[in-house]
Amino acid sequence: MSDPFAPFPVSRPRRLRSHPLLRELVRETDLSPRDLILPLFVRPGKGVRQEIGSMPGNYQLSVDALVEEVGAAKELGIGSFMFFGIPASKDATGSSALHDEGIVQQALRATRKAFGSEVLLIPDECFCEYTDHGHCGILHMHNGVTDVDNDATLAILAEQCVSHVKAGADVVAPSGMMDGMVGAIRRGLDAAGFVHTPILSYAAKYASGFYGPFRDAAESPPQFGDRSTYQMDPANGDEAMKEVALDLAEGADMVMVKPALSYLDIIRRVKERFRVPVAAYNVSGEFAMVKAAAAKGWIDERRVTLEILTSIRRAGADMVLTYHARDVAKWLR
Ligand code: PBG
Repeated sequence: MSDPFAPFPVSRPRRLRSHPLLRELVRETDLSPRDLILPLFVRPGKGVRQEIGSMPGNYQLSVDALVEEVGAAKELGIGSFMFFGIPASKDATGSSALHDEGIVQQALRATRKAFGSEVLLIPDECFCEYTDHGHCGILHMHNGVTDVDNDATLAILAEQCVSHVKAGADVVAPSGMMDGMVGAIRRGLDAAGFVHTPILSYAAKYASGFYGPFRDAAESPPQFGDRSTYQMDPANGDEAMKEVALDLAEGADMVMVKPALSYLDIIRRVKERFRVPVAAYNVSGEFAMVKAAAAKGWIDERRVTLEILTSIRRAGADMVLTYHARDVAKWLR
């Protein structure tokens, strides 16, 4: 920026902070429930509403309870939801993810039936919740090391997305960090006639310690090793630009940076460089830290949460996935 500012005492930045209404007029970033996507966890059963210990106020829900939860959030002004499934059974290839009667497919149909086009439904597209080994795709041996077989996983990923769209998904959001996943999904959706279904790609997803509570919630921790052969090294920024560029070239309509708080610089760089809709995922560990410190009385939960979400928006995120969505919607009423 060039500096058109006269020096003090002509310039006094405090003038614009002197009145609350004036502060509102000059505020650069806004936060509304319409910017938020609430992640929800669905599991088999009826009347199940099981609180996730490390994520207070968040639950594993059976389909009927999930429909109620969506209805309540909708009343607060939240319109968009991400679904994660905890299936009845797991196997080596995560086959239950592809069934028309799979848990997420059931959740999509029931929610669509209850609320029609008044909600936007965005299932997470991945296999870690459905495989018995907890990795995000099919495994193979490569040079003596067991690893996720990228290209074999692409085929079932496209199938999973088609199945979810048939069940009522508005947008699909692949989170497995497989190379070529966006292109494979685009081809699969187009071949099935779903040319208008957008893809929100988890384009820059880091191998992060901040996913800890989620893995309990989704019952999806890897049973051996970690996700470092597919998720990104937290030390890398240029590589995120490459991942985003590749996903956009393959047809991604929106891109995500995940986690959010340790990666605000990445959000900013992606927004400035690509000028496309950017989502940021304020992940489970980020949520749990705020809840834990607030429970101890060490921070003001409302103030800190609004500050965090505003900072993610200020960094350049158009939309934020967050477990705070319900609380925020209440506070902003
Ligand atoms: C993978 C997936 C994960 C999250 C969203 N999708 C976990 C992982 O990569 O291990 C994490 C979300 C969170 O921590 O809130 N399907």
